[in-house]
Order: sequence, then C-alpha cells, then structure tokens
Amino acid sequence: MTARLGMHTLTAGRGLLFGGDYNPEQWPEEVWAQDAELMRAAGVNLVTVGVFSWARLEPEPDVRDFGWLDRVLDLMGENGVAVDLATPTASPPPWLGHRWPQTLPVDESGHRLWYGARNQFCPSSPVYRERALSIVSALASRYAGHPALALWHVGNEYGQVCHCDESAAAFRAWLRERYGDLETLNEAWGTTFWSQRYGDWAEIVPPRLAPYIINPSQRLDWRRFCSDALLEHYRAERDLLREHTPGTPVTTNFMGLFKPVDYWSWAGEEDVVSNDWYPEPGDPLAPARTALTHDLMRGLAGGRPWLLMEQATSAVNWRPHNLPKPPGQFRLESLQALARGADGLCYFQWRASRFGAERFHAAMVPHAGPDTRLHAAVRAHGRELRGLASVAGTPVPARVAMVFDWASWWALEERGRPSDRLDATDQLLSYYLPLWERGVSVDVVPPSAGLSGYALVVVPNLFLVGDRDAAALTAYARGGGVLVVGPFSGVVDERSHVRTGRFPAPLREVLGASGEEWRPAPDDVPVRCRWAGGAAFTAHTWTELVAAEGAQAVAEFAGGDLAGSPAVLRHRAGDGVAWYVATMPEAAALGEIIERALADAGVAGALPRLPPGVEAVRRGDVLFLLNHGAETAVVPIPWQAEDLLTGAVAGGEVTLAPRDVVALRPHAE
Ligand code: GAL
Repeated sequence: MTARLGMHTLTAGRGLLFGGDYNPEQWPEEVWAQDAELMRAAGVNLVTVGVFSWARLEPEPDVRDFGWLDRVLDLMGENGVAVDLATPTASPPPWLGHRWPQTLPVDESGHRLWYGARNQFCPSSPVYRERALSIVSALASRYAGHPALALWHVGNEYGQVCHCDESAAAFRAWLRERYGDLETLNEAWGTTFWSQRYGDWAEIVPPRLAPYIINPSQRLDWRRFCSDALLEHYRAERDLLREHTPGTPVTTNFMGLFKPVDYWSWAGEEDVVSNDWYPEPGDPLAPARTALTHDLMRGLAGGRPWLLMEQATSAVNWRPHNLPKPPGQFRLESLQALARGADGLCYFQWRASRFGAERFHAAMVPHAGPDTRLHAAVRAHGRELRGLASVAGTPVPARVAMVFDWASWWALEERGRPSDRLDATDQLLSYYLPLWERGVSVDVVPPSAGLSGYALVVVPNLFLVGDRDAAALTAYARGGGVLVVGPFSGVVDERSHVRTGRFPAPLREVLGASGEEWRPAPDDVPVRCRWAGGAAFTAHTWTELVAAEGAQAVAEFAGGDLAGSPAVLRHRAGDGVAWYVATMPEAAALGEIIERALADAGVAGALPRLPPGVEAVRRGDVLFLLNHGAETAVVPIPWQAEDLLTGAVAGGEVTLAPRDVVALRPHAE
C-alpha cells in the first residue's frame, strides 16, 4: 500500500510553506530572474503557477507551447521554490467559446455568458471536458518527474453553474440515477403541487427563470447536481494527474463557506485541502468568521493540516470599497491560520499585475517594488515562519463539534419560508462566537460525523435532517454527550418535505420538547425573554410556540403572544443533556447558554480569562494568543513559557499590543 499523500508530503524537508500565486506569463523573462531572487530573499518555498495560462500553453487548438513553462519550472527548481502546478482549465481561451459556443455557460434566463472574463465553461459540456482533459494530460506527462513539481492545483475555485440543454441532459441522467423512475421523482418533488407532474424525462429542465416560486425540492436536487457535476469534472482531471504522477498530491482551492459546492463531498477526493480566504478589513466579526472558516477547513481535512492557498497582504480589488490592511494585519491573519491547523500560508499573488481585472489587487511585491514597507513585512514574515517549522503537522485538539451541512443550508434558504432572516451561516457564526471568545476550540463537522469523541455538539441549524443523522444526534446525547440545537431544526427530510407532527419531529424525544408554530418576530421589535431566575434578556427575529415534554424551561418568553412559554429548554436525556433554543437570543444571552452547556460538558477554554478581542487556540503543545482588538491586552498565563516568535520567556502574564501574536510553548515542569 502506498502511504497516504497529504500536507506532510509537502512540508517534509521544507517546513511551513510560504509563497503565492505566481503569474510569470504576465511579465517579460528579465523580471522572472528578479522574482526568483526576491523569492529566495523572502523565504518563499511554494508558488502556484499556471492557473490562467491555457491560452498561453495552447494558443490554438492542439498547438502547444510549453517552452516558457519549462523555463519557469526550471528557474523555480534552481531556486529551491517548489511548484504547485495548476491545470489551466478555469479560464478557457477565447478559441474554445468561439469555435464551440456550447462550452459557454448559460444563466437561468437562457443568456449565454461570454469570454472576456474567466470561468466561462459549462461543467457538463462534453467538448469542454475533452479539451480540458487533453491539455491536462499534456501538462501531466510533460512535468511528471520534474524536480520542482510538488503539488497539483486542479482548476480554480470551482463554482460554475450552467442551465443549458447539455446541463439539462446531465441533470436528467443524475436524477435517473437518484430516483430510478419518474414516479419516484414525482413523489420526491411533490409534483402534485401546482400541477407540476412530469410524464416524460425529457420534460425535466434545470430550474430556469419562471413566473413564480420554483419547486424547492427540484431546486435542492439541482444544487446537489451542480456540485456533483463539478466534482465529476474535477475527478476526471485528478485521475489523469494521478495516472502520470501518483506520488504528487492533488488539491483544488476552496472558498470557505461557499454555497454552490458541498465541500463535505469534495474534501475526501483531494490529497490536500486548501482554501482561499479574504477577510474584510472593515468587518468587526472578521476574526471570528475567519477562525470559523479555518476550523471548517480542518474539519474538511479530517483534522489533518491544510493549506491556506490564497490570502491578501493588503486590499483586494473586488469589493466596492477596498480597505487596505494596517501594518501587522496580514501577519496576524497568517498566524491565525497557522494556529488553526494550516501548514502553508500563501497569498494571491506574488507580484501585482499591471493590466487586467486585478491590477489594483494587493500582492507580495507591490507595483512600487520590493523596496517598500509592505515587501519588508513579507520578508520578515517569511523569516519568522522558518522559526515555526516545529508546528507543522501538529493537531488542533477540540472537544466541541459544530455541525454544518450544505444540503440543509440549500434547503433552508429557499424562497417561500416563514422568514428569510434566518440565515444558515449567520446562525453558525452566532453560536461559534461565544466559543471563540472563550478560547474553546471547535471542530466543524458534517451531520454524518462520528460524534462520540466530543463532549459538546452544537447544531446551530439543521433545517434538513435525515432519519439516520437525527438518530445519531439522539444517540449521542442519550449516551452521555451534551447537545445544543438551534431553532427551525429538524423541519424537513432529504426531499425537503416537511416532517409532520410536532416539531422538530425526529429530535422531539431527545430534546424533551416539541413545538407547533414558527412565529417570526417583527423587525426592530426586541423579543422579551426571562431566565428562570428572573433576569431579563432579549432575542430577535424568530420565536416558536414550544412546550416542555420532560425538559426544563431555562428561559421563557416574557411578552407578546408567547408570554410564559419556553424559549430555551434543557433536558436530561439518558446519560446526557440536550438543549433547545426556540428563538435567536442576543449575543450575551446566547453566550450564557453556551457557557452553561460547556459546564454541562465539563469543557473549559484555553485560559481561564481572556480579554475581549484576544483569540486563544492551542496547536500541539503551543498556545497561540492573537490580539485582534484595538487596545493593548494583558493576558494572565498560569505557567512559564517560551514565545517561539521572539524567543522571549513569558510567565505570569503576557502583554499584547494590537495585532500582536505570541506562540507560547510551556516550559517542561
Ligand atoms: C481568488 C482567485 C484568484 C484571484 C483572487 C483575488 O478568488 O482564485 O485568482 O482572483 O481571488 O482576490
């Protein structure tokens, strides 16, 4: 059996990876030599090459020009820089769309999208598939065995959706596979509603622009199909690469909580999980949102190290108003990813481009050149990462899991529901925030994950739940775990049909409670609630008429139609505890609920007391403290430790200026 490929394949002998997207095709060759020198000086050891180079590699169908790429790979190899070589299939050359317009994607209203930007392909187009595999195979056979080749980067940020007739045919084939016959499909889609019965497979089309609300079960299957169609294409490229280079790991770059693609079904198809992540500098929740995303990546990687493929040294160019990062910010963000399990910290991009759509996007070498404060900071960061090599490969232990599911996300956020204010990722973040503030590490996991190793499992929202997953959550709590379930969970089955009876039907027994009405609250009118002890708090947006059936009301609604009925319930379920939150409590109140659930689970944060804005996370034997706040923070630490970043010895307390980070390795007793 061959050893499993992974981040360790890349970090062995290299330590932590540091580098970025490198687009030498945009520059004359004299600049390449300077690039290589600058990369060495900055400690760059990995670059992603060729992501958008299809037209350069194949200027006309079957006319190939690899000479320039040979020279790039040789140059990188000579300078000790490993290459993450991309298949160039995210951006086909104009000749593909011109000669074969059927490869161009079609939107919901039937308009074809043209070349002139990027990503213009139909995932189900046989011609696209054939031409893509042909260039991938040429690339793989040419560079197999090249000493600089370390990693394959398939496509870029998969997410394309196409509504054309070829996609419709592929959708039908996918549906046949899923349902076998039309009768089962009609039942699954509930087509007796609004006279939608299909009598012939040929009648079935993707959800295209329609006069009113489209069938939610049809749309859910369409989303599943779109994710699978892209995955099928990814797999085809990956398999070719593996044939030629079985010892070279393969990745494709994810985009955090990206809705169109179910990353749970993708991650296992990669050797390395990688992510592109661009926190918004003006977003006060960015540090927690980012931590959550990193924890998701670690979950996707099955707890193993992952690669931060793209981040920005300063401003991006694709938001309407692009704030630059203050000095120290990109380093703070990079070290945050390291603390949460990344073994590689890479950037988009190495050198800022002069032309094209991204000419105002930050880079490691800005337009002003290497003699700049930004590039000096890049070098300093590269240097300090070399000193942190011992962190590579170490795990981020967590006793808390948070369940998140793409199908449930898709099903929840369809039109025609009680309230579109209930957003799956906002719910996730609101339950994550109090854990993050307390320095409690969290693994983000799919509903099908094994849960028995966790002391606390938080389910912020699981609108769609299958019988088996509901039974697993029940068994987890009854077997001694602590379960927290947020509102509007357990509502529909895998077909997005409402589960009838009192809700949440499949979790009713474990929660010791059930409800009969979902009652969204008026905007801007706080929902008044009261703890059992009498203290008041507010909630917002959402309430439910719920009755205890063995659970205790920990808090109740204190006004309006639901006054006196339970708002938060706690149930001794078998050997464990189950909580149900039937509203959206304000942050402090949700923090209180999480605090009590942590106490039930016997889980404590990384340190007893953390000042606001300070993130604490343990990786291996190193405790990272990161100050995201605007004030200097003093953090008490109960032991003596060495800061791996400065070599200084710390004890008693640590003082962190804004954007400061320490990586504390405790002294042996
Ligand atoms: C990513 C993409 C890169 C570049 C970058 C800009 O989405 O993979 O190619 O466009 O964003 O932030």
